Amino acid sequence: MRLFLDSGIIEEIRLVQSYGILDGVTLNPSLVKKAAEKREEKKQDIQMGDYIRSILKSVPGLPVSLEVIGLDAVQMIDEGRRIYNMFHPVAQNVVVKIPINCAYGKKTNAFDGIKAVKALSSEGIPVNCTLVFTPEQALLAAKAGARFVSPFTGRVDDFIREQAGMAFQKEDYFPAEGLKRQGKVLHDQGICSGIQLIRHIAVIFKNYDLDAQLLAASIRNTRQLREAALAGADIATVPFAVIKQMVAHFKTAEGMETFTDDIVPAYAQLLKGN
Ligand code: G3P
Repeated sequence: MRLFLDSGIIEEIRLVQSYGILDGVTLNPSLVKKAAEKREEKKQDIQMGDYIRSILKSVPGLPVSLEVIGLDAVQMIDEGRRIYNMFHPVAQNVVVKIPINCAYGKKTNAFDGIKAVKALSSEGIPVNCTLVFTPEQALLAAKAGARFVSPFTGRVDDFIREQAGMAFQKEDYFPAEGLKRQGKVLHDQGICSGIQLIRHIAVIFKNYDLDAQLLAASIRNTRQLREAALAGADIATVPFAVIKQMVAHFKTAEGMETFTDDIVPAYAQLLKGN
């Protein structure tokens, strides 16, 4: 499974890149805002275009998703081209992120996201289709030619828990399987958890040999990441906090302490080359 970092904070991107396990980066307007606020806090006065260029350059060869902000197909296609032409030459790693359906409130242009995915993909611009919450949306995105399809795992769980009146923290693991065993089946249009959404999409993509890569997004904790991997996601995009949790276990730390305490001088000398 490939691992993307869901962050626009360059220090985090550089750090994870230095670990040697990074396969890509995803951004959205909220993550850009977070990164901009962080730069403001640190009094780093850097122009947005230069900032994005520095992100692209710090992960050469790894796909970086940059999202459009338009609310109809014409705007999104125009912005997608602009993003690609402006930034792809920097390190040849730009992917344009398009929402599956840009309509909200009273808007009626529900298929404009699909149209934009189709238009940009047909021009050879790689697209990451985002804000996917159902297998049907994923199927449409794949049919329109999206290279990556991003279901929002954690937000599905948020919605199901909110509907059920459950109290939870954003990063809490959602034990959907456990609830099922207790006879409490909660769901959103037949989808019982974000992970079940991933599982269903993986089956559909396989059944019809669709080329789109399944990118599990909105991952909040390591168990969710593990389950996304087991469910067949090609990629997971995760925040820095989850990457940090992935490597940690208290028994590993305890084992390290014991091994370090037990080092005999002769063994230490041997390894130091003395
Ligand atoms: O990967 C999409 C992401 O940035 C949304 O994550 O945790 O805000 O639902 P979250």
